[in-house]
Amino acid sequence: DWTPNAFVGETVEALKNKIGNDKVVLGLSGGVDSSVAAMLLHKAIGENLYCIFVNNGLLRKNEFTDVLEQYKGMGLNVKGVDASARFLDALAGKSDPEEKRKAIGRVFIEVFDDEAHEIENVTYLAQGTIYPDVIESVSATGGPSATIKSHHNVGGLPDFMKLKIVEPLKLLFKDEVRRVGASMGMDKQLLGRHPFPGPGLAIRILGDITPEKVRILQEVDAVFINGLKDAGLYDKVWQAGAILLPVNSVGVMGDERTYEKCVALRAVESTDGMTADWVNLPYEFLQKTSNDIINKVKGVNRVVYDISSKPPATIEWE
Ligand code: XMP
Repeated sequence: DWTPNAFVGETVEALKNKIGNDKVVLGLSGGVDSSVAAMLLHKAIGENLYCIFVNNGLLRKNEFTDVLEQYKGMGLNVKGVDASARFLDALAGKSDPEEKRKAIGRVFIEVFDDEAHEIENVTYLAQGTIYPDVIESVSATGGPSATIKSHHNVGGLPDFMKLKIVEPLKLLFKDEVRRVGASMGMDKQLLGRHPFPGPGLAIRILGDITPEKVRILQEVDAVFINGLKDAGLYDKVWQAGAILLPVNSVGVMGDERTYEKCVALRAVESTDGMTADWVNLPYEFLQKTSNDIINKVKGVNRVVYDISSKPPATIEWE
């Protein structure tokens, strides 16, 4: 029978044997999979695991600093790289979703490659790939790895992609990854985090991206997500987030008419993201959240709730 404890024991042993005294580089995303992969490798090879956590400027509010601190607290050898400006520059003026994804994928590879070159004599690239990712890349649905591949078929692989690959979670499903993390004593909040797309808020800001739009969406998202946590609803939802619409709608303030931004809130139930149902959040919660957003976030005067299921509506709006 499969147990998380036995998996940890066997995997750590196997990683030690395979890697020996070599160095490994791993990109942390703040998500469950890369974090659990990092902890397994850390147990096996300690300081020879070099983790890189890139801020693409499209993370949730305070996420970069909070998660970086958390990783350091876990004893990981992690370097935080704030490349926000490079990402936002590359995105300026782009509104096509696939172009935005490609730009983000390209800059990520450049930044990661630069950082990987800073580590002398690195042999392995570790990834938090899990079993459903393996299947999905075969069916080529265009996830993040597909973006990386499509870009790099053009000019040859960057050096870090020529490294030998280690994927300790390759045969696990998400719930098993969470159980493995829990058995290593990892923080429950980290293990229970909602999935978050690699391109981050870029695909939740419909149309082109500006620092001001990122700021607005980070604020809105924080009100929504913290509200879900405060109301005890966060763990009942598979994924939630806010979307900044490319629409200004009319409002009144005093005796003036305003034209300000409209945001959509989305919360879904799902097991694997392939199908999803919108969540029937309590009216009182929606009412309070809407008021909080409109009162606290300057530039937003309207909040709507997305009641579409997948299929045909996807979870993300882009
Ligand atoms: P959709 O919108 O296709 O999303 O219903 C299904 C799941 O995939 C995530 N998603 C992405 N993740 N890069 C990622 O790493 C992407 O480009 C991307 N697009 C969607 C989405 O957040 C949901 O969990």
